[in-house]
Amino acid sequence: MAESIYIPQTQDRTEVYEALIPQVKALIENESDLVANLANITAVLKEAFGFFWVGFYLVKENQLVLGPFQGPLACTRIAFGKGVCGAVYTQKQTILVPDVEAFPGHIACSSASQSEIVVPVFDAQGEVVMVLDVDSDQLNDFSEADQKGLEKLMEVLSNAL
Ligand code: SME
Repeated sequence: MAESIYIPQTQDRTEVYEALIPQVKALIENESDLVANLANITAVLKEAFGFFWVGFYLVKENQLVLGPFQGPLACTRIAFGKGVCGAVYTQKQTILVPDVEAFPGHIACSSASQSEIVVPVFDAQGEVVMVLDVDSDQLNDFSEADQKGLEKLMEVLSNAL
C-alpha cells in the first residue's frame, strides 16, 4: 500500500480532487476493510484541504452513527431527516450549506462550524449506506468544485463497497 499521497500545492481545489481521486481509488482497491478505507479517506481529505472536520456517518440501526473522522469530537447519532446529514439521507442528494445558521434544523456539533457540505454514498441497490460530512470554520467555504470532487470520490468508494 502507498504510504504517502501526492497533493498538488495549489489553491485550485478541482486540481487537487483530480489528483486525489485515482490515488484514493488505488488505496481502497487494495484494502477490503471498510473502516480502514473510510479512515484513510478522511485522513487524505484533511491533509489535502485542511478541513475543520471531515468524517462519515454510517446507516446503522435505522439512524446515522458516527464513523471514522478527523477533527474535533462530534455528535454520535443523527436521526434520519434531522440536520444536514439526516436530510441528505432522506433526499438522497448532496446538500451544500453556505451558512449553517441559515439551515433549519442544522445540528451544531461544534460552534466553530460555519459552512458544510454533505454527500451521500450509495450501495449497488441505490440505497444510501453512509454520508460524508465536511465542515468548515469559514462561511461559504464550499463550491460546486467541492461538490463535483467529493461526489466523484464517493462514487469511487461506492464502487468499492
Ligand atoms: N452538522 C451536521 C452534524 C454533524 S457534525 O457537524 C460533525 C448536521 O447538521 O447534520
